[in-house]
Amino acid sequence: MRIAANQGSVGWMNLLRTLRTNCDSPVTVLIDLPFPRLESGLTSVPQTPDCPMTHVVTESCIRCKYTDCVDVCPVDCFREGPNMLVIDPDECIDCAVCIPECPVNAIKAEEDLDPNEVRFTALNLELARGWPSITRTKPSLPDADDWKDVAEKLQHLAR
Ligand code: F3S
Repeated sequence: MRIAANQGSVGWMNLLRTLRTNCDSPVTVLIDLPFPRLESGLTSVPQTPDCPMTHVVTESCIRCKYTDCVDVCPVDCFREGPNMLVIDPDECIDCAVCIPECPVNAIKAEEDLDPNEVRFTALNLELARGWPSITRTKPSLPDADDWKDVAEKLQHLAR
């Protein structure tokens, strides 16, 4: 089923929490700006979402992947893609110890996301379900320093 989630940032986050709580089948995020859309196994959207908040890796990580965040995570919730990490929202315990470790401030609590970053909650959820766990810090991407101050890197995300 495809769910159109063009409903503003608050409604969008509530929908994501609902999906995390109620949906066992894969959730696909279709990046259609200004808001993503979802495909999932849900046939309807429950009205009373009840799911813990999470932390989210945002755009700044793309093409950097410094991985300083990984060693401090007490529950190994990071997942590794070719040029970005994401946080598995089902594992994150919201401890926030990873936030100050990132040299490019890529990690935020879900409630602190800017409106244009809300889409990364959905993206973390989707990619965490397909990417492997990473539990040890490792060298950043070779040209990470060239990309650390670049904005709007989503088009460079490698899956
Ligand atoms: Fe990415 Fe920052 Fe971790 S760049 S890999 S979120 S330390």
